[in-house]
Amino acid sequence: MPATRSRPDQAPASTQSEGSPPAHDRRAPLSAGGTSTPGSERGLGPKAFRAGHGRGTITVGIVGATGYAGGELVRLLLQHPNVKLAALSGRNRDNQPIAIAHPHLGTTGLVIDAAIPEADAIFTVMPHGVAAEMASEITAGGSALLDVGPDFRLHDRADYPRWYKFDHPAPELLSVAVYGLPELHRDEIRAAADRPATIIGLPGCYPTATILALAPLARAGLVGDLVVDAKSGVSGAGRELKSDLLFSEVNESVRAYGAFTHRHTAEMEQELGQQGERGTLGSREANPGVATIDFLPHLIPMTRGILASCHVRPTRPVTQVELDALYDQAYRDEPFVRVVADPPSTKHVSGSNLCLIWVKVDERSGRILVLGVIDNLVKGAAGQAVQALNLLFGLPETTGLEQYPIVP
Ligand SMILES: NC(=O)c1ccc[n+]([C@@H]2O[C@H](COP(=O)([O-])OP(=O)(O)OC[C@H]3O[C@@H](n4cnc5c(N)ncnc54)[C@H](OP(=O)(O)O)[C@@H]3O)[C@@H](O)[C@H]2O)c1
Repeated sequence: MPATRSRPDQAPASTQSEGSPPAHDRRAPLSAGGTSTPGSERGLGPKAFRAGHGRGTITVGIVGATGYAGGELVRLLLQHPNVKLAALSGRNRDNQPIAIAHPHLGTTGLVIDAAIPEADAIFTVMPHGVAAEMASEITAGGSALLDVGPDFRLHDRADYPRWYKFDHPAPELLSVAVYGLPELHRDEIRAAADRPATIIGLPGCYPTATILALAPLARAGLVGDLVVDAKSGVSGAGRELKSDLLFSEVNESVRAYGAFTHRHTAEMEQELGQQGERGTLGSREANPGVATIDFLPHLIPMTRGILASCHVRPTRPVTQVELDALYDQAYRDEPFVRVVADPPSTKHVSGSNLCLIWVKVDERSGRILVLGVIDNLVKGAAGQAVQALNLLFGLPETTGLEQYPIVP
């Protein structure tokens, strides 16, 4: 396939909006002046691309490109050899140079508009409730929707008012959406390309670290009781101004938040609760610890990174040899998950799409401790989204994601 890497000095095709609309326009044409686009000539979406009509280039739009996760998506996709950034969208933006939102990307010459582009794939990267309102319109033309927010992660519509305090405006799409954790749902993500509407609900950052840390135990029916104690850097909360996220509030301080109510609990219970049913070794009933997870997140004074410490009382005694075999079997062929010999540090994954996992049984207490670390903005958001894009469009899963971590 021909590489179409965007160069820093190469301005992309972008929407030239007329006037300044109040928020996102819907389905505005990709190019100014009504000229036809490669997308409209060949059809949009992963199915058309995989049929060979895409000539090796996936056109991509990002809605919510001004935030932290949106900026990280732009950074990663600029390095992707098969992606053309068709357009970036942000509310109330009108041909605004990207440097205003993301100075570090200023030399790309990209601009941000209000219009939602036509493209093979649209990433939505906004607070809960916003992408759900746009989903039908985005998918109607064949574009794949990859939502980095939570609007398509949960299968049960009742979970939205319960955990997110809103009624889902497109509940009929929840049964179409695939939970976009490749290590658990690789085949379903690939198959989503053939559905009438292609929607990937990408996992949250805490759930990514936690589910990957615990899935092998849940599959084996070993989660008797479970406490997840997790820590996140401040970028996990986004860049919207909030007084409790000021440097002077966060620096040299650690605090718990969201006790008993954190929204990510819902997807952890959903996904871990399915593991036993799929395998031969366990069932939902065999993992009472995943039915009501005790999850306590903490905010710590660093920019990126998540550490999920998962304390498990197993349903029966286990040995380290058994655990090592379970985790080796689960992850030896995974390109982004590594089981490590020493407790991992968030620094060891920063800027990369890696998830590092350490698992040990305490012979004295009989409890299992599993640690999972990720970069919340890469494996926890933008990198995972690119991984899912690669699967949907039939590319090698690691394309554009081979960056080593940044240390120190
Ligand atoms: N940060 C992470 O580590 C992380 C990880 C996984 C998933 N996520 C999820 O990704 C989404 C974005 O997170 P983020 O950290 O990038 O947040 P962020 O930095 O606060 O960015 C939010 C983006 O959404 C836009 N936006 C806010 N309210 C909007 C509205 N009512 N209508 C349209 N656009 C709106 C913002 O535009 P303006 O510039 O105009 O404000 C901005 O582009 C969230 O759903 C979050 O839960 C984040």
